[in-house]
Amino acid sequence: MHIHHSIAALRADLKEAGRIVLVPTMGNLHDGHIALMRQARKHGDSAVVTIFVNRLQFRPGEDFENYPRTLAADCERLVVAGVDYLFAPDEDEMYPAQQQYYVDPPSELIGILEGEFRPGHFRGVATVVLKLFNIVLPQVALFGKKDYQQMLVLSNMVRDLAFPVEIIAADTVRADDGLALSSRNGYLTAEQRNEAPRLYHTLSKIVAAIRAGKNDFPVLEAEAMNELRGNGWAPSYVSVRRKADLQLPQVGEAGLVVLAAALLGNTRLIDNLEL
Ligand code: PAJ
Repeated sequence: MHIHHSIAALRADLKEAGRIVLVPTMGNLHDGHIALMRQARKHGDSAVVTIFVNRLQFRPGEDFENYPRTLAADCERLVVAGVDYLFAPDEDEMYPAQQQYYVDPPSELIGILEGEFRPGHFRGVATVVLKLFNIVLPQVALFGKKDYQQMLVLSNMVRDLAFPVEIIAADTVRADDGLALSSRNGYLTAEQRNEAPRLYHTLSKIVAAIRAGKNDFPVLEAEAMNELRGNGWAPSYVSVRRKADLQLPQVGEAGLVVLAAALLGNTRLIDNLEL
């Protein structure tokens, strides 16, 4: 695996890379990330992974400082997964001066769900991802549906700005008990880790209820929030939305996704299930 920390060296090396498939990450890689890497190799000649904990997408008081940085272990996993290039810049390489140009996603999409609870988050995500696209110039980029709203923000960004990259959305990888894999799961105590799959089970119940013909979504959402609260969670939202644009669905509409975010102790977990 070719490892680069500088933009210039990476660009020079990628001249021979052929069709490039990019997987941007913040590192601390788990099997969910690795599933993206394995898919990446099927879509082109070279799989390029980036590891960069992007300060722009964290709010003051969030876990930027404590975010797990495990580059040596990550490298070993990437080699096993057959990744060709790793770009792991430091902060000065990505943001040598204060970043002054940003991508501002539309408020309809970022004023809701994660964006409502983490103002500025998707602006930081969109800005760093466009910058990574400009550095790597990939033909294909893979993102996980685990971060459904992020995937949609980025798909719409490349469409709106005509960036010539195909975005592929990959299914969420879960632990055997249903918990969606996440770097933040490492923050959970053993007791919280036992409780954590409830988020997935709560979403599964809503999906089953909708499939069984229940269509009073606010009631289903309120029941789910109550169940979470009753078990020690502080839910931010549980919401049935349209897959295509994450707006509220009309009665009887198909193409839905149920999304949730909740705090378990100090750890904020998110998950979603498509119908
Ligand atoms: P990170 O949280 O490291 O995730 C990197 C990629 O892995 C994202 O596309 C995410 O959706 C995907 N992913 C995470 N957990 C997954 C799971 N359980 N199953 C499938 N895919 C999963 O998302 C980010 O980093 C950053 O916001 C980034 C896009 C890199 C911009 O900084």
